[in-house]
Amino acid sequence: MGDIMERTFVMVKPDGVQRGIVGQVISRFEAKGLKLVAAKFMKIDSELAAKHYGEHLGKPFYEKLVDFITSGPVMAMVWEGTDSISVVRTLVGKTNPKEAGPGTIRGDFGMTTGRNIIHASDSPSSAEREINLFFDRSEIQKYTRIDEVWLYE
Ligand code: RTP
Ligand code: MG
Repeated sequence: MGDIMERTFVMVKPDGVQRGIVGQVISRFEAKGLKLVAAKFMKIDSELAAKHYGEHLGKPFYEKLVDFITSGPVMAMVWEGTDSISVVRTLVGKTNPKEAGPGTIRGDFGMTTGRNIIHASDSPSSAEREINLFFDRSEIQKYTRIDEVWLYE
C-alpha cells in the first residue's frame, strides 16, 4: 500500500441489478470514502463481453459467464481513491460468496460463484484496460469531494 491515487473499474452484474441492490453497493463505496467518477447503466453485448472476459477464454465456465453477463443490464462504474483497486477488492470479498467474509459485498449478499453480484478490477493493468473498454476519457469526471480533506491526511 503506497497511498497511490488509483481508479478501478467496478460493475454490478445482472443479478445485482435484478435483486435491487445497486444502491446498497454504491452506498458502501460512498461510505468508505471512494469517489464515483464515472457510471453507465447499460447492456453488455457479446463483443464487449468477450473483450472484458478475454482472460477466461477456454476455461470451463467461460460460455456460462458470457451468457450471464449479457443477460440483463449492468451498472458499470469507475471509483477513485488511494489504493482503490485493492481497497475495492477487499470490500467485494472472495470470488465464491460462500467463502467471502461477513461485511463484504459477496459475503453479505451472495450464495454462489456464478451469481456473485459484482465485478472489480484485480490489478492496475486490468483496471486501466477495463476502464478504457467501458468509458471514453470524456465520461470520467474530475471533481473534489467535500469530505476529502477529512478522509486523507
Ligand atoms: P470478477 O472478475 O467478476 O471481479 O471476479 P473475480 O476476479 O473474483 O474472479 P475471476 O477469477 O476473475 O472470475 C470471473 C468471474 O467468473 C465466474 N467464475 N465462475 N469455477 C467457476 O464456476 C467460476 N470461476 C469464476 C465468477 O462470476 C467470477 O466472478
Ligand atoms: Mg476477475
